[in-house]
Amino acid sequence: METIVNDYLESASRSCIINQRAEPCTVVVLGASGDLTTRKIVPSIFRLFLNGDLPEPCNIIGCGRTGMSDIEFRNKMQKACLAPGMTKDSEWGRFSRSLFYRSIDYDNPESFKGLKDEILGPGRDPLMHGNRIFYLAVPPWLYEGIVHTLGMTGLASESQDRSGWSRLVVEKPFGHDLASAMKLDRSIHGYFHEDQIFRIDHYLAKETVQNILTFRFANAIFEPLWNRNYIDHVHIIAAEALGVEHRAGYYEKAGVLRDMFQNHMMQLLALTAMEPPSRFETDRVMDEKAKVYRSLRPFNTKNMRDNLVLGQYGPGLVDGKMVKGYREEKGVAPDSLTPTFAMIKVMLDNWRWNGVPFYLTSGKRLARKQTEIHIQFKKVPHSMFRHTLMEEIIANRLILGIYPDEKISMTFQTKNPGPKMCLRSVTMDFNYYKDHSGPVMDAYEKVLLDCMLGDHMLFCRQDAVELCWSFLTPVLEGCEKCSNRAQSLLPYPAGTWGPDAFKSLDML
Ligand code: BG6
Repeated sequence: METIVNDYLESASRSCIINQRAEPCTVVVLGASGDLTTRKIVPSIFRLFLNGDLPEPCNIIGCGRTGMSDIEFRNKMQKACLAPGMTKDSEWGRFSRSLFYRSIDYDNPESFKGLKDEILGPGRDPLMHGNRIFYLAVPPWLYEGIVHTLGMTGLASESQDRSGWSRLVVEKPFGHDLASAMKLDRSIHGYFHEDQIFRIDHYLAKETVQNILTFRFANAIFEPLWNRNYIDHVHIIAAEALGVEHRAGYYEKAGVLRDMFQNHMMQLLALTAMEPPSRFETDRVMDEKAKVYRSLRPFNTKNMRDNLVLGQYGPGLVDGKMVKGYREEKGVAPDSLTPTFAMIKVMLDNWRWNGVPFYLTSGKRLARKQTEIHIQFKKVPHSMFRHTLMEEIIANRLILGIYPDEKISMTFQTKNPGPKMCLRSVTMDFNYYKDHSGPVMDAYEKVLLDCMLGDHMLFCRQDAVELCWSFLTPVLEGCEKCSNRAQSLLPYPAGTWGPDAFKSLDML
């Protein structure tokens, strides 16, 4: 029996390997001296290379304002990609030969001409056919200027004969409100058409997030319960232990609502609440997500406090160490009113979810990093044990664990063994990687590979971006323009579960 199971698992893992190969291309990382390139982009490309998923050839050209030679860039990336003690890795030697660095002035089309010659000029590698990806790893206020320069230099266009494909990867935030998101989109569409644009939300590429649709729609037993008749409320939590770190310049303007809610939290909401598309195809899935956003009940800005808790972390203990409060972090104004925590209650006005609150919670410097979706079922309609049991019957809860435990767990009631009728709450756990033996990709590897393959499934479509902003912009305006802004921002000590007002909800 065990052999049959193992054979089955092995063949299931084999059949999960992508058999389509990405075409050779050049990946141009704009903002290559920055943190995202070092922490995520190049290490992910290196892992794709190690797993044999990177096309051959594939050049990575880092661009930035900082002057750096190819060798200096390679050395910097080597430190980021290789664990200490592995610095002589021969695989690195092979990979690093395709890493280059060009210092560039983003506003000056002249400075992009050299890049164009390298990618499209007569001396280019013929195997690459001019295929190119431009990854905007720069601060968001540089997006429009760079896109304009790419367009003016002819690097965006696919129309010239045999110029290969050209793709643009845009990191969130896509604007800072509805109007700016629409303006950014107009600028991008001035040079790139929708098929060329890849708006990243790395949450979509997390394995356990991708699994939400599989869990819901590849099983017959959960979906009949997945509605207002059986579900009391849903709580989506993305708690972080880290603080703002060195990103105060960006975070001061963004705050938690723009940083986490407009994108990641809204994506988790859509996947949890959407209807099944008729086929697992990009546009059909995106259409269903957009319908969820269209059902969002407009936020009642008159009673903000009933539906929104905002907080900001003060000094506190994290992992036994005293850490600074947000206002003492480098680059943060000492009287900053930027929220680092939010809990927002949203309602979906549609047939399935009418009356079911969705609580979305995210914050920095909370007790621990934990990302989970809690589906809280209703209590049993009638307790036949009410004369026998002293205790109340706890309602079922399903947890979709995204971090740290990648799991699905279901809590239900059983009889405690023994002569007396007592209840015992037990949990049935499925660990996502148990019995798995195939390759695993992290979120950035997956989005980079999908972009090379031209697959948009795990990216954001502009209508959804705008619908999310339509919902959140009035919330942001309500918070930022209200007269008692300072009083509405509740302090919480770092290393706790947030402001007291949130704790009283007793949701975690
Ligand atoms: C990013 C936010 O998009 O997501 C960060 O800008 C946040 O502030 C991060 O820390 C969280 O991502 P993850 O994958 O660590 O949960």
